[in-house]
Amino acid sequence: MASLLHISVSPRAASHSRRIGRELAARLCAARGLDRVVRDLGADPPPLPDERFVEASLMPEERRGPDEVAALVLSETYIGELEAAAVVVIDTPMHNFTVPAALKAWIDHVVRPRRTFRSTPAGKVGLLADRPVRVVAACGGPFSGTPAAQRDFLTPYISYTLAAIGLADVEVLLLESLARGAESVERAETGARAWIERQG
Ligand SMILES: Cc1cc2nc3c(=O)[nH]c(=O)nc-3n(C[C@H](O)[C@H](O)[C@H](O)COP(=O)(O)O)c2cc1C
Repeated sequence: MASLLHISVSPRAASHSRRIGRELAARLCAARGLDRVVRDLGADPPPLPDERFVEASLMPEERRGPDEVAALVLSETYIGELEAAAVVVIDTPMHNFTVPAALKAWIDHVVRPRRTFRSTPAGKVGLLADRPVRVVAACGGPFSGTPAAQRDFLTPYISYTLAAIGLADVEVLLLESLARGAESVERAETGARAWIERQG
């Protein structure tokens, strides 16, 4: 059975992004007959790239010894999960206008030269086959208003970065104003459910 990779990032049990992400993943699994594979970066955050990882990652594959291969085991696990997935769901908080550190660290493990992208004079060319990636991002504050109350660096960042490894079919749903009371939460959830139905 094909799989849906469900990546969750919030460290909170009462997380809004986890709640909506679960609904989205359940809907997509039912509609497309997929098995859900969970990668919980909130409970088990990836380590930051250290010297061993960086050296091994930059080294051509044929020069790697056992130490370098060992330094890339987690990266290979994450990339393997992506390669195996027909669909990817990522639910995440917004932290300081962009992705949380745990999701950034996961990105650093999966965006690897000669493995998931190759460099050309025109920029990075992705080596993964494209597949839908749906991102649910929970934000405490609003984005509307003139001037905008805050800027969203999460949507362009995650879309551009995943495109660099070949994943161009990315849609991001921002759940905004979640720290502004029950009415705001309800409004965000109503919008989310309509978006989830369209994903079916
Ligand atoms: C470290 C930190 C940074 C945050 N930065 C932002 C931000 O830039 N913009 C925003 O709207 N909310 C921000 N928030 C609020 C969270 O995005 C909000 O609480 C969200 O609901 C968290 O997701 P969760 O409910 O899935 O855990 C931040 C929260 C934390 C803890």
